[in-house]
Amino acid sequence: MAEDLRDAGERLDREGLAALQLERLRSTLRHAYDNVPFYRRSFDAAGVRPEDCGSPADLRRFPFTTKEDLRREYPFGMFAVDRSRVRRLHASSGTTGRPTVVGYTERDLDMWADVVARSIRAAGGRPGQVVHVAYGYGLFTGGLGAHGGAERLGCTVVPASGGMTARQVRLILDFRPEVIMVTPSYMLTLLDEFERQGVDPRSTSLKVGVFGAEPWTEEMRREIEERFAIDAVDIYGLSEVIGPGVAQECVETKDGLHVWEDHFYPEVVDPVTGGVLPDGERGELVFTSLTKEAMPVIRYRTRDLSRLLPGTARVFRRMEKVTGRSDDMVVLRGVNLFPTQVEEVLLRTPGLAPHFQLRLTREGRLDALTVRVEARADTARERRDGAAAEVRAAVKDGIGVTVAVEVVDPGTLERSVGKVKRIVDLR
Ligand code: DLL
Repeated sequence: MAEDLRDAGERLDREGLAALQLERLRSTLRHAYDNVPFYRRSFDAAGVRPEDCGSPADLRRFPFTTKEDLRREYPFGMFAVDRSRVRRLHASSGTTGRPTVVGYTERDLDMWADVVARSIRAAGGRPGQVVHVAYGYGLFTGGLGAHGGAERLGCTVVPASGGMTARQVRLILDFRPEVIMVTPSYMLTLLDEFERQGVDPRSTSLKVGVFGAEPWTEEMRREIEERFAIDAVDIYGLSEVIGPGVAQECVETKDGLHVWEDHFYPEVVDPVTGGVLPDGERGELVFTSLTKEAMPVIRYRTRDLSRLLPGTARVFRRMEKVTGRSDDMVVLRGVNLFPTQVEEVLLRTPGLAPHFQLRLTREGRLDALTVRVEARADTARERRDGAAAEVRAAVKDGIGVTVAVEVVDPGTLERSVGKVKRIVDLR
């Protein structure tokens, strides 16, 4: 029989897990209420006390926490421990207003390394392997988060960070990593660079890619797996909850991401009413941390859309691959559209490359959307018009909206070095 590499948390049964979750939930609510004025105010305003939570179902009586709440408490207002106990800060880029800051105690960093180590192992990584980390290092949680987990698992970490793409290829060829951790869009940038250097991307030492930090589709998985001859699995997380390592897809099933429910309690709510939806129904993911010290989060609204499904390869429930954020949703003449829906169509259309951009413009009083997508290098010029027409028809049929499609030369669109920006709003 194959060696069982699962850690103690992964070996719990559903009952053991439920008991642990309740105990941790109650102590987190208490910790937040006693130590963060924001939570004391919001619980008091809602008329709930930590001891009112007698089962995870009671969590719905507690108020949500939003990104705006975190911004208002900038920089350290959400911390539940003295600042001197905070060992690390990370922050969001703050392109849309004040940044949000998150903090970690020594124990939080330890737990984070554990869940990321668990994630890399679920992805197929093993102690002793070389892990190339091309998520950005810095205030973004991707680089250092992946790094801590890879070290914890007992791997040799290459802290490449994002950028300097030609050098990344050199490092991969020389250090021979089995695992790469990077955004799927930057993986495509690396693919271009392998080809530019005349190296067959299928011939490298890489076996597994752990891709996340942005939405990507099954079609993109297929593209990356075929072009690199690797297994491509999904890692999910957000700074406010911990960083990468909130949920992870298992390589043996590739059927959605197991939420590490012994540390992060998930709910799915109706994005408009806030009502809790039963498992299986699509809505907005909401997380409550169960073991965090420096910055516990209670019912944090992620704006990410998914649904919860029963566990398969692990006891923990799965979340379906995130199709998009409510923020990235384009409403075009009353029809909702996510960039991932367009990605699916483009990657199913022969002759088109996985590089695309959605341009929003206004024509008179109507919004218009142009899909700009690159042709593949070997696509004949005459094929381009046909491909554009096929995409237009598929978007009209599948999503229900009319868009313009421009097929541009290979290498025209800006390449990603981290999270890709799909929508260019020119309105
Ligand atoms: O992106 C953490 C992370 C780093 C996750 C590396 C995975 C790998 P933030 O910068 O706070 O943290 O952005 C979080 O990114 O709310 C989602 O909208 C999106 N996101 C993260 N992972 C995925 C994924 C990191 N696997 C925001 N699929 C989240 C789709 C994802 N979207």
